[in-house]
Amino acid sequence: MSHFETDAIRTQTERSQFLEHSTPLYLTSSFVFEDAEDMRASFSEEKERNIYSRFTNPNTSEFIEKICKMEGAEAGYAFATGMSAVFSTFAALLNAGDHIVSSRSIFGSTHGLFTKFLPKWNIETSYFNVNDLNVIENLIQPNTKILYAESPTNPAVDILDLEQLGQIAKKHNILLVIDNCFATPYLQNPIEFGADLVIHSATKLIDGQGRVLGGVTVGQKDLIREIYLFSRNTGPALSPFNAWILSKSLETLAVRVDKHCENALKVAEFLENHSKISLVKYPFLKSHPQYEIAKKQMKLGGNVVAFEVKGGVEAGRLFLNKIKLCSLSANLGDTRTIVTHPASTTHAKLSEEDRLDVGITGGLVRISVGLENVEDVIKDLKQALE
Ligand SMILES: Cc1ncc(COP(=O)(O)O)c(C=O)c1O
Repeated sequence: MSHFETDAIRTQTERSQFLEHSTPLYLTSSFVFEDAEDMRASFSEEKERNIYSRFTNPNTSEFIEKICKMEGAEAGYAFATGMSAVFSTFAALLNAGDHIVSSRSIFGSTHGLFTKFLPKWNIETSYFNVNDLNVIENLIQPNTKILYAESPTNPAVDILDLEQLGQIAKKHNILLVIDNCFATPYLQNPIEFGADLVIHSATKLIDGQGRVLGGVTVGQKDLIREIYLFSRNTGPALSPFNAWILSKSLETLAVRVDKHCENALKVAEFLENHSKISLVKYPFLKSHPQYEIAKKQMKLGGNVVAFEVKGGVEAGRLFLNKIKLCSLSANLGDTRTIVTHPASTTHAKLSEEDRLDVGITGGLVRISVGLENVEDVIKDLKQALE
């Protein structure tokens, strides 16, 4: 097996007759057959080949193969968005009456899926807090099928012990599904700690330049087969164009994420020493409550820093209004540094009590540190705090 960076660059779709160096874009909805027998054998899966781009496509397959190598997974399926990966994974694997145990600190739309839509099929979810994994076993019922979590969490950047989650899932014979979006396959591989499936929103650091949406689920072959059959019929496939972009992006994932993490640590250290900041959370700061766990399961601390401006919601909003260089945007994992105020935007619909339950205080600001010169980013934050 080659190194991470080599696989990211050298895993490539078979060359065409033109002997191109870089993988071309296969913008085609369907593929042709030699004769009726070839077509029959392909549809019955006696032959493994591309039939229709809702099922497979060379660009999508290359992207999936790279993610599988990076995550140590057997197989995968790529989706139009991170949310279609999340939804299709649950929809393919769960039956009416099944139960999920999930971390409370999950992406807002995933929370929406669990609370608004899955209950339509009589699939209920019980939640645990990130700082109390010991309650998980009490929440597991005979009909529990999936244990679900994200680490680091969005937006409070908490860390969950993946090894502990893996042990619980194994003991109770349930599937462990991890959304690994914040860490990327470069920083953390949940399968090593017992995850059965790993989900990514490729829209974030995998694209890394704020251009396209995408998602992927990788893991055990038999589970991916179920997800594939569901998706082949329901149509959430990643477009070949976006797959081509994302596969090229993976070639530079390691160097980009190394630099993102270096910049984020510098930003976190600057904030930690600022008098107007009451709290800074970054996985690789010694002051982070789960620093030791982060060190155990992550290569570096990631690119997201959460911090609290003294003075609550108004102080948080005022800070955002003074930002000049960084962007106010809903995305993260871009080359451009992005600043958001969760209490008044992404999590405004939650009650204050529910927000505090997942670590979102009024003054909490989330910064996705980009690849600009970090001195310019710090200068911008500094003037906004004055
Ligand atoms: C942790 C996490 N999971 C899933 C998603 C959903 O991804 P997408 O926007 O690609 O649908 C996001 C998006 O912000 C996210 O942050």
